[in-house]
Amino acid sequence: MQILQDKNIVLGITGGIAAYKTPELVRRLKDHGANVRVVMTEGAKAFITPLTLQAVSANAVSDSLLDPQAELAMGHIELAKWADLLLIAPTTADVIAKLAAGLANDLLSTLCLATAAPIVVCPAMNQQMWHAKATQANINTIAARDITLWGPAEGEQACGDIGKGRMLEVDDIVSKTCEFFSVKSLANQHWVITAGPTREAIDPVRYISNHSSGKMGYAIAQAALNAGAKVTLISGPVGITAPSACQLINVESAVQMHQQAMKMAESATVFIACAAVADYRVENIAEQKIKKQAGQDSMKINLVKNPDIVADVAQLANKPFTVGFAAETQDVEQYALGKLRNKNLDMIAANDVSKAGQGFNSSDNAITVFTADDKHDIALASKHEVAKQLVAFIEAKAELKS
Ligand code: C5P
Repeated sequence: MQILQDKNIVLGITGGIAAYKTPELVRRLKDHGANVRVVMTEGAKAFITPLTLQAVSANAVSDSLLDPQAELAMGHIELAKWADLLLIAPTTADVIAKLAAGLANDLLSTLCLATAAPIVVCPAMNQQMWHAKATQANINTIAARDITLWGPAEGEQACGDIGKGRMLEVDDIVSKTCEFFSVKSLANQHWVITAGPTREAIDPVRYISNHSSGKMGYAIAQAALNAGAKVTLISGPVGITAPSACQLINVESAVQMHQQAMKMAESATVFIACAAVADYRVENIAEQKIKKQAGQDSMKINLVKNPDIVADVAQLANKPFTVGFAAETQDVEQYALGKLRNKNLDMIAANDVSKAGQGFNSSDNAITVFTADDKHDIALASKHEVAKQLVAFIEAKAELKS
């Protein structure tokens, strides 16, 4: 079942430039199974047409409190009762002020008073307007009335300013919506996840690393957050953004990752080693950039073994439920089961990285998950989907064990 299946979302759109992103938002919410009905303010219609939103939502767009046709059936009350969530994105400073004052002089502000559904606002405005004392006072007022705030984000603004006031990206709003509706089965749990590659320095400008993108570990972090866990993500250098709700610890080398993992694992209920950790590091890192020598056609770098992070976590006295990954190119099951035993793991997720379009650096993956007495296939899908299924499987197994 999709996470937003049968959820009724009223999307209020107000008059900000970020309104141009809302058709994509509607589509993405619908992709997750939501029913979406759109309400637009007069200002919103200056930025985007009701026809566009009608087409993507597959529902009539409401924009008037005084629409005789809609009000024949008490349209605004019907809409207020229909909603499981009233999401307003973008939300202008003007609409925030209206909510703070409790006005009801258009359809959207009336709905806010008439609905028993939770209300979420995603502010979008110029950074100076966001920091204005009046806006901040209004934000405090609506927050005290249990209206939830998502964002705003910082960055470049349509007007050229840089600062706080951008509407959250559509991806973030969608994942927050999924999180909002998800069953919080992992509440009170602390999941620690390693992700990405490590970098083993050779000298101040060179290092040994690998092609790990971090996507699988980051997707697991998001899925665990969605299920209500507190998540610590210990990440090597990657080019993707971590979910905003997790505790992110950036590291470079395997030794740094080991140090952080051992510290965080003390309070973890589940530990997932998704990182592609370098097995060896340079024994003596040169303090200065190594120069090529005339007449020298080869050079040797001596490597020493790195600590095995997941194996060390699995030796802790109060060991969390410990999950490893095995990226293999042959005899996947045999190698994976060997690692499960040798590293004292509770579970191992094996993937065949020799297959095109899955695993390393790809957006898709297929894994087979082993415990000492069970085997479970998760078929080729996006890493987000695979992560969701893996989190559910870990949850079931960890519960049985505890
Ligand atoms: O032994 P191998 O590197 O194939 O094992 C893979 C699993 O062990 C992965 O879960 C990886 O994150 C973890 N690992 C680790 N520390 C290392 C090497 C691997 O945590 N030094």
